[in-house]
Amino acid sequence: MSAKGAYQGLCGIFGCTLINGSAAIIIHEGLKKLEYRGYDSAGLATVHEGKLYVKKGKGKIDEIHRLLNFDDLPGHVGIGHTRWATHGAPSPQNAHPHSDCHGLVAVVHNGIIENFHQLKEELEAKGHVFKSRTDTEVICHLVEEGLEEGLSLKEAVKRALLKLSGSFAVAVVSPLEPDKIVCARKECPLVLGLGENGTFFSSDLPALLWLTNKAVFLYDGDLAVISPQGYSVERIENGEPVDRAVELVSWSPEQAEKGGFPHFMLKEIYEQPQAVRNTLRAPRSYLENMCSVIEGSSKLYLVACGTSYHACLAGSYMLSRLAAIDAKPILASEFSEWCGNLIDEKTTLLALSQSGETADTLDAIKMALEKGAKVLSITNVMGSSITRLSHVYIGTQAGPEVGVAATKTFTSQLAILAQLSLMLGLRRGILEAEEHRALQEALLNVPKVMDFCLGNVGQLVKSIALRYAYAPSFYFLSRGINVATALEGALKLKEISYIHAEGYPAGESKHGPIALIEEGFPCVFIVPKGEVRGRLLGNVMEMKTRGASIISVAEEDDEEVKAFSQDFIGVPSGLPEVLSPIVYVVPLQLLAYYAAVARGNDPDKPRNLAKSVTVT
Ligand code: M6R
Repeated sequence: MSAKGAYQGLCGIFGCTLINGSAAIIIHEGLKKLEYRGYDSAGLATVHEGKLYVKKGKGKIDEIHRLLNFDDLPGHVGIGHTRWATHGAPSPQNAHPHSDCHGLVAVVHNGIIENFHQLKEELEAKGHVFKSRTDTEVICHLVEEGLEEGLSLKEAVKRALLKLSGSFAVAVVSPLEPDKIVCARKECPLVLGLGENGTFFSSDLPALLWLTNKAVFLYDGDLAVISPQGYSVERIENGEPVDRAVELVSWSPEQAEKGGFPHFMLKEIYEQPQAVRNTLRAPRSYLENMCSVIEGSSKLYLVACGTSYHACLAGSYMLSRLAAIDAKPILASEFSEWCGNLIDEKTTLLALSQSGETADTLDAIKMALEKGAKVLSITNVMGSSITRLSHVYIGTQAGPEVGVAATKTFTSQLAILAQLSLMLGLRRGILEAEEHRALQEALLNVPKVMDFCLGNVGQLVKSIALRYAYAPSFYFLSRGINVATALEGALKLKEISYIHAEGYPAGESKHGPIALIEEGFPCVFIVPKGEVRGRLLGNVMEMKTRGASIISVAEEDDEEVKAFSQDFIGVPSGLPEVLSPIVYVVPLQLLAYYAAVARGNDPDKPRNLAKSVTVT
């Protein structure tokens, strides 16, 4: 079965300009350190005696090396790439480096060129011949045009980059200027390394630390020219030279992998604005494919486990509110018992899985396929089993998630579900154009709001976590879409801190759970401004009068909620309620993280759990 939609913007790039020695051997080793960023194909290009040499193939780096032998590529200057499912299937043609019509340049790229269709059409109309289905190849032909007009490599690259919209970390070599590499970044990581024997670039710092501890971190919009003797940096937009200082890195490779954070989980929590920003770049065509399948079906199930199931809950609310679609969220492990007899050819299953390998979810999918249903999926791992079983899939652009507790993949899943619901709402005439535009704008602004939130609440949440770290039990309560947030907050807390926690719809608490409340029992309320706020305040009071300690997550200017709360966590105001889980979950992730650390647990590797649960 072929999946009709997938895109990826991760990948790793690495390169060097050496005083002497083999660039290929160094790049090969560097790419292996970046392989976690992608491993469906890889390639190297070197420049030697006025010629470009390229070797690339499909598969893992070791497999390709066994067939092609990267290490015998000649020259002191070169670039390399390890890829993770980009435009077009993994294949030798789609593997990087890419080149132009006349072998004037080789290019490696991490990121997504959003306007590549349009650029490709323009270039083809001028006679350029494309060899791959990648977005990257437009860069090669744009640079080729500049070189043929007599521009220097740096100027040709700069002019090409100014035509791109989207994100990139890119590096270009040319036999016309054989001793240098021109590289640049916009919203994708790129760091330079300065060594005794030359200058290096890499997608991340850990892949450089075996060569040097002198690093130069490029900023968004920077273009650098590296040579064996050093580097210079300027701004892409206007060519203005800028000073980017050399930093002496004292991190061990292991510390560097965590980006200086003590744990992967904390790093991944802080990566969320970028993960959501990248995810929101999902090409319209993939979302449109999903919409068409959903519109053609009579039943829609949202199926997943754990945190991904909580995203299904929120997604079901979004689809109902924004597109008037009745989507039933169901745990994958319960799917066949509850819904097995209801599935037919008009049924669609939308399955969510960070890993794409969760056995319960795959079982539900296989059962649905046997009965003729259509399968859509959202996953963070391209090439995982779920992508092979789905008619249409979309990749979240969260990057690898190492911590066992899902964080950035959850908020990225929510971002795609919100996009899908908005698109369906417009297509089905449920949302007026103006309402759709305002919500779309609010969604695109979510990464910024997350950034503010992370900037403001970290220390506060840490201090709250320290005070409650030995509470025996917690409730997490809300109404509407944030019931999903409450359930997720409780799951995070229990899985890494080992404190008992329950998430509940707040209106249900008086039907039983309230019996447990006594003096000091911590109740976390998620209280966005919006439809549910009034009734939620009633639930807050019910708990407070019975002695509960109220920890609230609410809009920062909500004085009324603040007055009711022992602890008040303010998030930026003005977010539409239907999008609020994407931001409101962030303080809850931090609460769980700091409680776990306070209790001496390793939040990255909680007991009894695995990152990918491949048993049913
Ligand atoms: O890879 P998946 O999204 O399919 O995984 C589902 C659950 O196993 C996963 O979300 C689990 O609950 C996490 N430990 C939550 O943090």
